[in-house]
Amino acid sequence: MMFESVQTFNHPKSAMTHNYRITLLPGDGIGPEIMTVAVEVLKVVGKKFDIQFEWKEALIGGAAIDATGEPLPCSTLDICRNSDSILLAAIGGYKWDSLPSNLRPEAGLLGLRAGLGLFANLRPAKILPQLIDASTLKKEVVEGVDILVVRELTGGIYFGQPRGIFATETGEKRGVNTMAYTESEIERIGRVAFEAARKRGKKLCSVDKSNVLEVSQLWRDRMTKLAKEYPDVELSHLYVDNAAMQLLRYPKQFDTIVTGNLFGDILSDAAAMLTGSIGMLPSASLGASGPGVFEPVHGSAPDIAGQDKANPLAQVLSAAMMLRYGLNEATAADHIESSVLQVLQNGLRTGDIMSPGMNLLGCRAMGEALIKTLEGA
Ligand code: IPM
Ligand code: MG
Repeated sequence: MMFESVQTFNHPKSAMTHNYRITLLPGDGIGPEIMTVAVEVLKVVGKKFDIQFEWKEALIGGAAIDATGEPLPCSTLDICRNSDSILLAAIGGYKWDSLPSNLRPEAGLLGLRAGLGLFANLRPAKILPQLIDASTLKKEVVEGVDILVVRELTGGIYFGQPRGIFATETGEKRGVNTMAYTESEIERIGRVAFEAARKRGKKLCSVDKSNVLEVSQLWRDRMTKLAKEYPDVELSHLYVDNAAMQLLRYPKQFDTIVTGNLFGDILSDAAAMLTGSIGMLPSASLGASGPGVFEPVHGSAPDIAGQDKANPLAQVLSAAMMLRYGLNEATAADHIESSVLQVLQNGLRTGDIMSPGMNLLGCRAMGEALIKTLEGA
C-alpha cells in the first residue's frame, strides 16, 4: 500500500454490489488528457476486481464558463450529489484570469467544496525511492519523507465574511477578507487529523499563527483540548512561518500536519515539492457524509495543455484514493498504486520527473504502459 490509511468517512450506498456512480469533472488545461488515462485505468481495474462503474461527465471551471457562463452550473452540483464519488482533474487557465473572482474557474472549485461540505482535505506527500533524484533538495534531506497534510477546506479566510473590495470615506478602495473559525469547525478538522495521525506515525503538528492572530489562538486552544482525547498521539504546535522553514530544513520531523485553509494551501504545495514533482500527488476532500472529491494536487498547467506532455500519475493515484477512501475498494487501490510504482521502477518517466538514463514518455504513452502493467500483474 502506498499511502497510509486514514478514516473512511464516506460509505457508498452500494457497497455490497461493487457498483458505483462516478462523476467525472475533467475541467480545463491538461485535465481532459489526464482524466482519460485515469478512466482507462479504472476500467481495467474494474474488470479485474469485478467493480462496475457508471460514469457521468459534468462541467466545471473554465469549461463550464465557456458553455454556460458559470463556473459551477447547478446541474453539475446535482450530478455530484447523486453520485458515490467524484473524480476531478484540474481547473483554470489564462483565458479566464481577468474575470471577477466570483466568475473565475476557481470559484467553481470552491463552490463544489462548500456545496458538498468537504471540510477535510487530505494531501499526502511521500517520497518514492524511484523519484528521489527528481527532488530539488538533497537526497539525505528528503529520503524517507512521508507527510500527510490535513487542510481545513470550507472555512477560514477563503470563506470568512465580510469580504470584498469597498470604497473608504476618502474614496480609496480597500480590499477585505476575514479569517474566522468557530470552535466546532476547528474541532471537526482536528478529529480527522488526530484519527489520521493515529493510523500513521502518531505525531500531529498543528500549524497556526497564534503569536499574531486571535483566530489562531482559538485554533491552538481547541487542538490542545482535543489532544486529551487522543493520548496516543503526540501533538505539537508550530507557527506557520517556522513550519515552512522546518519543511525545507528537516522534513522528516513531520508525520501528520493539521492546519487551516490558507496555511494548508501554501504548506501543501511546499510539502508536495519535497517529493520532486507535484505531478505525482493525489488528494482527497471529504465531508461528514456524502460523496468525496478526489483530485490531483497540481493545477491545470495551461502551458502544456493539449501537447501530450502531462504526467497522468497524480490523476491515476487520485483514482486510487477514490477507491480506497470513497468506495472502500482497497484491493483495487493497492493494485493501481503498486502498478504506478512498477512503471517508475521500469524507468518510465514524464518530463516533470525525468532524470538522466530514464525513458521519456508522453501522457498517453505513460497511460498505455500503466495499463499493460495493470493487466499483466
Ligand atoms: C488548491 C488550489 C485551490 C485552492 C485554488 C485553485 C482555488 O490552489 O486546491 O490548492 O486555493 O484551494
Ligand atoms: Mg493550492
